[in-house]
Amino acid sequence: MTQIPLPELALVALIGASSSGKSTFASRHFGPYEVLSSDQFRALVSGSEHTLDANEAAFSSLYHVAARRLERGLLTVVDATSVRAEDRRRLVELARAHDVLPVAIVLDLPRSVLDARHEARGDRPFSEAVIGRQQTDLRRGLRGLGREGFRHVWTLRSVDDVDAAQITRVP
Ligand code: GTP
Ligand code: MG
Repeated sequence: MTQIPLPELALVALIGASSSGKSTFASRHFGPYEVLSSDQFRALVSGSEHTLDANEAAFSSLYHVAARRLERGLLTVVDATSVRAEDRRRLVELARAHDVLPVAIVLDLPRSVLDARHEARGDRPFSEAVIGRQQTDLRRGLRGLGREGFRHVWTLRSVDDVDAAQITRVP
């Protein structure tokens, strides 16, 4: 079982391909206001979770809200794929700017699980090939997360791992 001792003063990046279960994990382990989801911000700024050209507006809004929370010392979880180093850099910078720990929880599930979930959901307007690319990007960067600045990195690699993960808040 993976025990995740989470410092209260943290910016948590939930990292994983689409359908890896980030939003499900977030709602299970964190309060609704603690979680800032890129899909939700895309919907807020454009009316739909899937508006692709709303990415910039969505992420700048998400970073803005994250910054306001961190300056109050509130634990903040970012639910976005963050599979590319350039996406993660902003999160590390944001954490550092507010003197909180950048922490990564990575959901690196087998491709077969991702594909099966993607097909069962049917609400994602992109192909399985996109998920394959996300997984490739993620795995390429995994070993470098510490070097990127994440102070703690927990990687969950199976459905059972994810199921059994327990988070405890440490002051
Ligand atoms: P995106 O928002 O597209 O990036 O995906 P996500 O990583 O947020 O995945 P999400 O939590 O939406 O889960 C995708 C699908 O997998 C949903 O249909 C969930 O019900 C299912 N799912 C997520 N976590 C679990 C899990 O632990 N067990 C099982 N059986 N299904 C899960
Ligand atoms: Mg999600």
